[in-house]
Amino acid sequence: MKTLVTGGAGYIGSVTTRLLLEAGHEVTVYDSLAQGHRAAVSDGARLIVADLGDADRLDRAFRAGRFEAVLHFAGLIRVPESVEDPARYFDHNVARGINLLNACARHDVGRFVFSSTAAVYGAPDKVPITEDAPLLPASPYGDTKRVFEELLLSYERACGLRTARLRYFNVCGAHAGLGEDHRPESHLIPLILFAALGREREFHIFGDDYDTRDGTCVRDYLHVADLGRAHLLALDALDRGGLLYNLGSGAGYTVREVFAAAEEVLGRKLPCKVSPRRPGDPPALIASSARIERELGWRREKDDIKQMIADAWEFHRAHPTGYPD
Ligand SMILES: NC(=O)c1ccc[n+]([C@@H]2O[C@H](COP(=O)([O-])OP(=O)(O)OC[C@H]3O[C@@H](n4cnc5c(N)ncnc54)[C@H](O)[C@@H]3O)[C@@H](O)[C@H]2O)c1
Repeated sequence: MKTLVTGGAGYIGSVTTRLLLEAGHEVTVYDSLAQGHRAAVSDGARLIVADLGDADRLDRAFRAGRFEAVLHFAGLIRVPESVEDPARYFDHNVARGINLLNACARHDVGRFVFSSTAAVYGAPDKVPITEDAPLLPASPYGDTKRVFEELLLSYERACGLRTARLRYFNVCGAHAGLGEDHRPESHLIPLILFAALGREREFHIFGDDYDTRDGTCVRDYLHVADLGRAHLLALDALDRGGLLYNLGSGAGYTVREVFAAAEEVLGRKLPCKVSPRRPGDPPALIASSARIERELGWRREKDDIKQMIADAWEFHRAHPTGYPD
């Protein structure tokens, strides 16, 4: 399939691009490189360095590429930044995304897979979270994703686009030499590994007085390769539209448990400090992924948190200061 991957030079997009190429897709990556890395784009994929804000460039890419499918990973991803500057988040994650949807409509693209997030649920009362839980985002970031999900349904009705909305929980690990290199980094496992590499003085646990088994927040960690494989399944299933799936492991680990697992994987003690809670961090976020397992037969191959950390560590050891740019 001729497939466009927006944000394909970023963490999840680069891994999924690799999997698409291995599955025989013809892949074009569209990425501004504002956050992504040229070195993360696999040989075999064509790279267009441009922003989604450039509607003319998008149009030309669609005319030349004759895409049958779009996987949309591009976007801004930091919750605290979205609280400080919500307009920027609505601009990038919604307004520029509309350029992409309009290009899909103009060029008769049939299939569209969107990277949504657990942040659309806010702080839910019930875990594991199922897809029909109320959408109550607690940040502008989550709100931009909720709004874009709504837009997808409107474009389905108006333009015949068939869409899959995939709500990811905490993504981690590395695959085929491709890993996580956000600048600045805000995700838990890389930050633990940065403390191991001396890139951070210590790892901060934000709050140890939550109502959880050891007082620290519980999150659901999913290996990036398992997430990438879910995209390929969703793409294949888009003969019909309206797909909506949570993607997590269904297991929750506390911050302290992940930290202890990292110490075990690395075989040494790591520096750590307890800091106050961050506003808006819910105590527990755990996905129910039963629907995609049942409907598309998705199975995780890398469920063990130590395996996820070991894969991430391999990437960070090979790239102690990140990808070369
Ligand atoms: N990483 C996670 O744990 C996680 C969890 C839930 C949802 N998500 C979603 O998954 C997607 C990918 O996340 P990631 O961790 O790979 O992020 P990332 O920052 O590594 O990748 C995003 C990529 O999009 C590009 N980009 C951003 N805005 C652009 C624009 N306007 N035009 C062109 N390119 C642009 C960046 O340069 C970057 O390469 C995001 O949409 C994010 O909201 C990620």
